[in-house]
Amino acid sequence: MPNDTIINLSILVLHGPNLNLLGRREPGIYGSVTLDQINQLLQHEGHKLGVKVFALQSNHEGALVDSIHDALGKHQGILINAAAYTHTSVAIRDALAAVALPVVEVHLSNIYQRETFRHHSFIAPIAIGQISGFGAESYRLGLHALVDNLRKSEKS
Ligand code: DQA
Repeated sequence: MPNDTIINLSILVLHGPNLNLLGRREPGIYGSVTLDQINQLLQHEGHKLGVKVFALQSNHEGALVDSIHDALGKHQGILINAAAYTHTSVAIRDALAAVALPVVEVHLSNIYQRETFRHHSFIAPIAIGQISGFGAESYRLGLHALVDNLRKSEKS
């Protein structure tokens, strides 16, 4: 991070259900990387980009909704892997729409190469964009895309 960079952006990273088991959960699909490793990668990347990164994982839909509400006034953007809730949760989508913070959706696996029930995302229509299929790299790319978007809108 350049010395004169002012850290004025804070990003909330949300991980949905079962992602706490990364590393031992279906490694053929999700790989061997753990959630702690992904969070460390994002901290490191955030430092390089000059942004603060706060990560939270929950297996509970309501807890994710609450943390989206709590983001107002604290964070400027949300990077989310809602996991299975991507395909089922109108509540998470509505919470994201309600706070109206810029959102980038990420997935480790390519959801479009998998079962048809994973092809639909309730979040995608209200997100800036979606990155799917690059493993932990999806998160890194997603953070860059979100910060880039925030910085561009800061200037305009
Ligand atoms: C996932 C894909 C979802 O379909 C699945 O329910 C997950 C993880 C991914 O990161 O590839 O739990 O979001």
